[in-house]
Amino acid sequence: MSIASRTTTTAPVGVDFGGSGIKAATVDLGTGRFASERIRIETPEPATPAAVAEVVAELLDRLGTPASAAVGLTVPGVVAHGTVRSAANIDKSWIGTDADTLFSDRLGREVTVLNDADAAGLAEVRYGVARDRTGLVIVTTLGTGIGSAMVYDGVLVPNSELGHLPMHGGPAEHRAANKVREDHDLSWAQWAERLTEYYRLLEGLFSPDLFVVGGGVSKRAASFLPLVDIDTPIVPAALLNTAGIVGAALLAQERPHLALPG
Ligand code: BGC
Repeated sequence: MSIASRTTTTAPVGVDFGGSGIKAATVDLGTGRFASERIRIETPEPATPAAVAEVVAELLDRLGTPASAAVGLTVPGVVAHGTVRSAANIDKSWIGTDADTLFSDRLGREVTVLNDADAAGLAEVRYGVARDRTGLVIVTTLGTGIGSAMVYDGVLVPNSELGHLPMHGGPAEHRAANKVREDHDLSWAQWAERLTEYYRLLEGLFSPDLFVVGGGVSKRAASFLPLVDIDTPIVPAALLNTAGIVGAALLAQERPHLALPG
């Protein structure tokens, strides 16, 4: 990748591809806040890579994104060297898609594609509740699935996929994601029991210094986090629904300087 064509003064854009909406905003990397309004278009059905690329083109158009701006896009799947390798909760046609190339070709500009939880994790460590924390921070997002980001001394280890650790014979996200709480009408206490088991599993494997809990439900953290009985400090995310966009913009701008693949 060449950064010669980019001016470091142009604010980058983050795009967050989620199940119901695709959202975008320009980000001020000095503060980690939006430098434009956040705009949103319904996720197309089916949300194939080509259909999502059309929506991203429209979002960038509406934001008036200059050619010199770096663009980052989150995808809820493994993204290795720009290629999507898994699609647990999205259209299966993403698997094997060279998303960096597809989006860059369709949009006529370089686009950096990364995992959604990795984006949220980077944003929390840079601007949020784990700001300036050293050691191992594990950020988990509790939503349709469970996403994870492992950040050690500020450096992201991408694609950790800790929502797929086995628990009761299946992926942990099938037992402890927020969608499971909703679908099975679990009480906060019942869900917290499952989360306790899940976070204990992570504790046993990784001995982290801090857990950060993100995803939409983290705004209800007071209802369930105090009931999660583990030894490691565990706190709600600070950036809530801006983290994906902010992290995507951050990585798009800084990727050339980070020791990340792609
Ligand atoms: C996917 C992850 C994603 C998480 C949250 C999981 O099912 O495998 O890649 O980060 O959901 O969207």
